[in-house]
Amino acid sequence: MRSPLTAVPPLHLQAQQAEDGFGPDLRQALAAPPHAISPKYFYDAEGSRLFDCICALPEYYPTRTERAILQRHAAEIAAHVGAGCDLVEFGAGSCRKVRLLLPELQPRRYLPIDISVQHLQQAAAELVRQHPGLVVVPLAGDYLGPVRLPPALPGAARVGFFPGSTIGNLTPQEALQFLRGAARLLRGGGLLLGVDLVKDPAVLHAAYNDAQGVTADFNLNLLARANRELGTNFDLDGFWHSAFYNAPLQRIEMHLVSRRRQQVTLGGETFDLPQGLALHTENSCKYTVAGLQALAEEAGFRPGAVWTDEQALFSVHWLQAPAMDGRRGE
Ligand code: AVJ
Repeated sequence: MRSPLTAVPPLHLQAQQAEDGFGPDLRQALAAPPHAISPKYFYDAEGSRLFDCICALPEYYPTRTERAILQRHAAEIAAHVGAGCDLVEFGAGSCRKVRLLLPELQPRRYLPIDISVQHLQQAAAELVRQHPGLVVVPLAGDYLGPVRLPPALPGAARVGFFPGSTIGNLTPQEALQFLRGAARLLRGGGLLLGVDLVKDPAVLHAAYNDAQGVTADFNLNLLARANRELGTNFDLDGFWHSAFYNAPLQRIEMHLVSRRRQQVTLGGETFDLPQGLALHTENSCKYTVAGLQALAEEAGFRPGAVWTDEQALFSVHWLQAPAMDGRRGE
């Protein structure tokens, strides 16, 4: 048997690019409207840990609901996806959800992509310990940028796994772009996509305003991370966590709101933040099943089976990518 460590090579195909942008992107967000920064910067080691805590919160229904769907329908999902695929996960995090599929799906290889390198390495190593026969190739990087994958395994369909409704971080327009790229990358295979559904705003509100304040800490960790990595002097007590459902745009928005007029320094520059200034840190877009299918179709997928829970809180979609035209997707 191969040792777990040699089975988890430190492959950083797109390594560190995301982290490198943090300073300039934060500067931009502080300097001018729309005062927005990508939620990808949430996920340093501490942010990934806090996100794992969010997933266990009673108010945060997406994780446990999606897990139940995957668990309940694993055999049927595997029948649609096809056994022996070359499985790529976008934003694999702790690689927990894929475990629900492995026994039925039996992929030839598993390539988890994540922005949080340390977190990914640990998760991949543990996965290999528990599934000694599985070939795991962790890839560090931002899967929303151009993704370059190792060549697909001959004869194995390339299948994408994008659970957790992470696609909700993108606006529908950005999601369309992502899906277009994925349709190309996954030609001859398809995409298994987890999507959070439109529902009672009160349920959504609670999920992003948990009683224990873990989501607030997760949001504020962006500033803590800036203090750690960029030498900023954010006073974390100087900001409110704000999360609300923007119904017309079908999305939860998270912001960090300045409680008072204050100044912050970044790389020698000082920014004057007025009271009430809202730093937009995340969108979490919600879809109807039909809305998501229309978007997928526009991107070139053929929408297939959809699995949901009894309360229709969450959905898992099988989206068939276009057939191979003699060439492999890159
Ligand atoms: C990982 C993007 C799916 O939008 O629900 C959880 C992140 N933010 N609580 C989500 C998140 C606040 C999560 N996604």
